[in-house]
Amino acid sequence: MRTAFSEEFTPELTVPVEAEVQGKIPIWLHGSFVRNGPGSHHGMTHLFDGYAMLVKFAFKNGSVKVSHRYIDSVAYNTYRDTGKMQFSEFATRVSPLKSLWLAFLGIVASTGIGPGIKVFTDNSSVNVLPTPDGKQLLSLTESVSSTYCIDFDTLKTLGRLDHGDGVEGLLTTAHPTLLPDGSLINLTSGFGSHYTVVRQDRTTNVRTEIAKVPLKHPPTPSWIHDFPVTENYAVVPETPIFFNTKAAIFGDAEYILFDWKPEERTLLHLVNLKTGAVTQFDAPPYFAFHYINTFETADGSSLCFDFGDFGDPEIVRSLSFDNIRSIQRPLAASPVLRMTIPLDGSSTIATVQPLMKDDDSYTYCELPLVNPQYKTKEYRYAYVVSAKTPTFFGNALSKFDVKEGTTKQWHEAGCIPVEPMMVPRPGAQDEDDGVVLSIVAAAEGGSFLLVLDAKSFEEVARAQLPHGIPHGFHGCFVPAN
Ligand SMILES: [Fe+2]
Repeated sequence: MRTAFSEEFTPELTVPVEAEVQGKIPIWLHGSFVRNGPGSHHGMTHLFDGYAMLVKFAFKNGSVKVSHRYIDSVAYNTYRDTGKMQFSEFATRVSPLKSLWLAFLGIVASTGIGPGIKVFTDNSSVNVLPTPDGKQLLSLTESVSSTYCIDFDTLKTLGRLDHGDGVEGLLTTAHPTLLPDGSLINLTSGFGSHYTVVRQDRTTNVRTEIAKVPLKHPPTPSWIHDFPVTENYAVVPETPIFFNTKAAIFGDAEYILFDWKPEERTLLHLVNLKTGAVTQFDAPPYFAFHYINTFETADGSSLCFDFGDFGDPEIVRSLSFDNIRSIQRPLAASPVLRMTIPLDGSSTIATVQPLMKDDDSYTYCELPLVNPQYKTKEYRYAYVVSAKTPTFFGNALSKFDVKEGTTKQWHEAGCIPVEPMMVPRPGAQDEDDGVVLSIVAAAEGGSFLLVLDAKSFEEVARAQLPHGIPHGFHGCFVPAN
């Protein structure tokens, strides 16, 4: 099978190796691009499953060195040592009997009688962030207790992070937002009565509660993978995709772990990050994994957030390997929408409108990023995985101009790129002055690192990698000191 969906274990590369570069990597690009994602899909049934491997590209003087290393989670080490899964992943389940036993242990653990009993996977494969001193990385996933501390230089796993702050909630998002004051905004949830919006100190990792937001249907939370944040507000989006409690054990809900109830529409909880006040807004039903960007309008009257709307969670099912490897349903469209929430008290209804011009090439938008200096601010350009149709998978990269509604696209037949990381040029004045980095699974096998000019969206360089890198998720760029 192709590199993107490979079942082979990618070998570790603990000693950085200089990659062969075609073209010219800008000399100003000095620092490291690190990305999290599965190092293998061996034994897994879904693209979201697979044990975490960090891939690092260190740029200096126009050259790039690559290294990769698995995160030493209990889930990964058990699997490597025994060849058997100990814990269920997102869609790949251990046997029903084992699931029941783990659920029982979970109940025991929740009583406090059996603290330390490990029930859920600690596979920390979704995102990665640097610590403020640049010496460590934090790997992130949707379980609070599965954040790992990683040595930045060697990618060696140092240990699990214990926030030690008593904030409730087993679940979180792997998409905290970094605010200008240096804090991180995130939320937790669980099978209780509320979501908790928190501010995390990046030095101590202690989280402070900002607001409790009531669940629409306690104890069943909505699945929140990412959420909109600005300097003054967070939006807890209760879209109508709800956890199915039975499926948490057996994974047999309509959409793997979730039920879809579009008749319930969407409830947007607007949280004032300064006061903790919560206000609710009605919105149409939608399904999105990620938000492109969120900002308050210059006159302060509205908050806007942009996203690719899949319409329903069918995309979650279509990312199963059954579909990817054999059925190959056509890719679900996710046109870009802008949601506007009034901040002036004029209405309790949020409105939605299309952002891009009506054209085939705009219909798929996933793994979106913006220039990090424009995150939480009014912006013009987004960089996304897109599609050149017909296809069953995101097979292109696009630069969206959300003011004009136009796009530029990079596509090479048979290639599968992932999240395009925009790195601004130091001292840049223009929003799109910089490069875009993406790991691409090549048509002929193997992988390369693609470097695009962020303005023209044309290739300036590619670096051939020693090993193929399976399809992965999110990353960060850490400038050199
Ligand atoms: Fe994500």
